[in-house]
Amino acid sequence: MFGITNKLFFKKLYYSQIQRLKNQLYISASTNNISEQNVLSKHSLINNKSELYKYLYFKIKLSGPISVANYMKQVLTHPTNGYYMNKDVFGEKGDYITSPEISQLFGEMISVWIINEYKKIHNKPFQLVELGPGRGTLIKDILRIFHQFGMCDQLSLHLIEVSPFLSEIQEKNLCLSNVQKNDPSSLGKHYKTGVTADNVKVFWYKSIFDIPKGFSIFIAHEFFDVLPIQKFQKTKDGWFEILVDIDETDKNNEKFRFILSKTLSCDRIRTKNEQRDHIEFSLEAMLIIQNISSVITENGGFALIIDYGHNGDKTDTFRAFRQHQQCDPLLKPGTADLTADVDFAFLKQAALESNKVLCFGPVNQNDFLKELCIDIRLLNLFKNSSIEQKKQLELGYNKIMDPKGMGTCFKVVSMFPYVLKDYFEKFPVHGFQSYVTKK
Ligand SMILES: C[S@@+](CC[C@H](N)C(=O)[O-])C[C@H]1O[C@@H](n2cnc3c(N)ncnc32)[C@H](O)[C@@H]1O
Repeated sequence: MFGITNKLFFKKLYYSQIQRLKNQLYISASTNNISEQNVLSKHSLINNKSELYKYLYFKIKLSGPISVANYMKQVLTHPTNGYYMNKDVFGEKGDYITSPEISQLFGEMISVWIINEYKKIHNKPFQLVELGPGRGTLIKDILRIFHQFGMCDQLSLHLIEVSPFLSEIQEKNLCLSNVQKNDPSSLGKHYKTGVTADNVKVFWYKSIFDIPKGFSIFIAHEFFDVLPIQKFQKTKDGWFEILVDIDETDKNNEKFRFILSKTLSCDRIRTKNEQRDHIEFSLEAMLIIQNISSVITENGGFALIIDYGHNGDKTDTFRAFRQHQQCDPLLKPGTADLTADVDFAFLKQAALESNKVLCFGPVNQNDFLKELCIDIRLLNLFKNSSIEQKKQLELGYNKIMDPKGMGTCFKVVSMFPYVLKDYFEKFPVHGFQSYVTKK
């Protein structure tokens, strides 16, 4: 799958996009056999649907079926109506809950891991970069431990957050009140900046490609699973992309549906020995992981990625969550989280292909946290806790360590510059027993 160069890949990708566009035109001309009058009369039927639904509906009506990646991107991050853009989606009242929201132990262990690895290889100021910080709970727990270790004068904090609403919650959780909104004409690429009580400077960006150069430590927890994916299906005639179209079988209640593209997909999307008949591919994830590998190779640093995922063996994992229940990703777009399991084999391959990095993992979350001595930390916290607090700590611990749940569904991967290979033979990265290197 990755034996060819990126250049060739983009050429093929470009060609396949052109083909897809042509195909979309063909589909809209051939199957949307309705007059202008009919289109207008149907408008009244969708008037009671959400703005996002209408946007997607007319987009497909105008130019034909869209890729799942396009659908996912609009549903999650459409500037005004996207799922993440204007509400708090986390916790019991929201749609799902994440490890840092469940237990402070999670962020504390990650913090100890960062300090340990940083002190092994660097002793100068660094940038701590978090991708998709949610409410800012993980980074707040990390900073609390940094404070205890006297690390706060060593770092600046860089948050990659596309949602203005969530960035405000992060701001309240992390900063003193005087946050500066950036004048778009200013030199910095951040959109706002603030400072924590420990005097750590905080910068917000829409994209990872905007962060300044420098030794960088990247954290991505439940970030890669929300990045848009394209889906491909193998048929007896070859591989075809799955697209999102409108199903108008029921004239009074049209809805979105999956259809197969009419054009063959390019070879790049599958490995030579691909055993699966359905795969998911995230171009955005690939570009982000390659950017992280370039930054740590050129400026120094490392990355820790935690997410639910697989090692290149799962097939159809695209799904939605509303109020903690799995639901149909094509129904009521914008009212549920859309997600797909992270393909760690693909991410690692993308990282190793263009840069000299070491990738460790994936290891199960519970094994990783055990090796970082989460049990000792739990017992320490017990010492100063009330009975009710102990109960809460234990509940949280059990949930994030559950061998039949989050403890094994969630996996951890780390990335370091390749030049550290020999060093890690002597002083292995904590939490990872083995690692894969570029040949
Ligand atoms: C599933 S939440 C994870 C939140 C947090 N890391 C946690 O574990 O609680 C995904 C986060 O990524 C942000 N996000 C989603 N797509 C993004 C994108 N393309 N660029 C930057 N941030 C994005 C969301 O707004 C949200 O903060």
